Amino acid sequence: MITGKTKVVCIFGDPIEHTLSPLMHNAAFKELGLDYCYVPFLVKKEKIKDAVEAIRALNIRGVNITVPHKEAVMSYLDEISEEAKYIGAVNTILNEQGNLKGFNTDAYGFVKSLKEENISLKDKFILLLGAGGAAKAVAYGVLKEGANIFIFNRTPSKAYKIKESFSQIGKIEVIEQITPEIIEKFHIVINATSSGLKRDDPMPLEPALLKKGQTYVDLIYTKTPLLKEAESRGCEVIDGLGMLLWQAAKAFEIWTSTPAPVDVMKKFLKK
Ligand code: ATR
Repeated sequence: MITGKTKVVCIFGDPIEHTLSPLMHNAAFKELGLDYCYVPFLVKKEKIKDAVEAIRALNIRGVNITVPHKEAVMSYLDEISEEAKYIGAVNTILNEQGNLKGFNTDAYGFVKSLKEENISLKDKFILLLGAGGAAKAVAYGVLKEGANIFIFNRTPSKAYKIKESFSQIGKIEVIEQITPEIIEKFHIVINATSSGLKRDDPMPLEPALLKKGQTYVDLIYTKTPLLKEAESRGCEVIDGLGMLLWQAAKAFEIWTSTPAPVDVMKKFLKK
């Protein structure tokens, strides 16, 4: 029940209709009997500054930030966490008496989703496909775990930029061509491109390159053509639902200082 004491958290994005975050968080608040509610807000690109001002004006406790605001929102916050600075994107805001701090829980969510599948990253060789915002979060998380990353992007200049800013954290190289000989050495292949979101998107890798024994991870929630191909070739596959779950769990903990009821959140996500 919403009362005068209920704390409000929300998400800003455009589009916002398909977000699964309200379901997950409201189920979690209910489970723990926390007096919070989570609401979606459609925020147009040109309104993000006003929307951030509204967090203070309306005393909103916390916010998730999604497409297209994760980068732009950073200019209007009071503090930015170290990982969000590196990644160059904020997906979670905490409001403490009008002081707005930005976090990025995507890197944590990604790494945690692999750990949950008993995949360790230390010293592993990883092929990372893509060099956009999602790829940066993955690169940060995976490098912090001690993996070696090789990054491939349709537009190589963007991959070189990531290498430049992330090489202080760990071992990161750019590759401009993926050949059967090169792909041999990777334990894990991660699709952080947006290719696979739409039904007839091309695969980000030639099917013939996929190799049995490798693990294929996609940040997209559904089973993409890449994951289907990998599965048919006897590879282990992991979709993006785990990352979505664990980034939410971390945001929940930032806002409430309470461990998230992950099993309940997972149940709602799967439904
Ligand atoms: P996100 O926030 O989801 O990472 P983004 O920052 O727009 O979105 O990045 C999209 C990534 O997917 C980029 O690496 C993009 O490659 P380019 O840098 O060359 O644009 C990649 N991408 C999108 N469509 C692709 C396709 N059909 N094949 C290969 N890569 C694709």
